[in-house]
Amino acid sequence: MKNIIIDTDPGHDDALAIMLAVKSGMFNIRAVTTVAGNSTIENTTRNARYILKLLGREDIPVYSGAEKPLKRELVQAAVHGKSGFEGLDPQNDANLTGNAAEKIISIAGEGNVTLITLGPLTNIATAIKQNPEAMSKLKEIVMMGGAIRVPGNKSRTAEFNIFVDPEAADIVFRFPAKKTLVPLDACNHVKLQLEDFERIGGKLREPAIAMMKPYIRNIKNNEGVSAALMYDPLTIYSIMNPSACMKGLYNVMVETKGELTSGMSVADMRKKCGKPNMTVIERIDSEAFKNDFIRILSG
Ligand code: RIB
Ligand code: CA
Repeated sequence: MKNIIIDTDPGHDDALAIMLAVKSGMFNIRAVTTVAGNSTIENTTRNARYILKLLGREDIPVYSGAEKPLKRELVQAAVHGKSGFEGLDPQNDANLTGNAAEKIISIAGEGNVTLITLGPLTNIATAIKQNPEAMSKLKEIVMMGGAIRVPGNKSRTAEFNIFVDPEAADIVFRFPAKKTLVPLDACNHVKLQLEDFERIGGKLREPAIAMMKPYIRNIKNNEGVSAALMYDPLTIYSIMNPSACMKGLYNVMVETKGELTSGMSVADMRKKCGKPNMTVIERIDSEAFKNDFIRILSG
């Protein structure tokens, strides 16, 4: 099994990603670390604990982290509702620990660990600043974020996770670890409908449907797309099934100063371009993902 840390801001699609990672049986999840993004750190941490309890995996430790970006005020997402989990609205305690960066450092320092990020990169940048030696022992950093050849989803140029904390993303993108980016380019065409979630068997069916009804409604109202967008589960899936992915090597940097372009992930597309600093997943087989996702969550 692959040793992983999941840094996340649940968030409906984060929850589906955690379900997929746990039910796949392919990962030894060393920790779930939480960050403010889709919602406040209290909500994202409460929601992460709720999902792990629902999965019967309270043995997986949850460590909370940043309550706001490195230098900016927190901008939350509109599509997850007030609790960050509209449709389930958990009431359990958040039990904030405030030590996500410290725990990421100590686990990464053991070596042979892949760090998967599903939210803004604030915790990761903090860990890199505090202990770059330990973080350089990471096997890989796999990040949901960015928009390369497509518009942003939080501004005309920026994807949400990068938009929220561009300074953090800039630190991570410049960090010389093996990195893979799963941008909107790979996610936008994968659209699930309520009927797809109704095909899920077993005990996750009801909570998945309860979450997806408001998520699909909110995406329609905010982004004009009538579907559940599967950003974070696709990031997990890209690790589970690399053969379902088309990928390329790019040099990608983050705009931190622009007015119209703050948070933009800028790939160098010139023939003679800078040395690549990451693999970019350009496309994921939608049918393969959908069939595997429903099968695994039904397991
Ligand atoms: O832009 C999509 C990303 O922002 C996803 O990770 C979603 O959960 C939000 O965090
Ligand atoms: Ca997320």
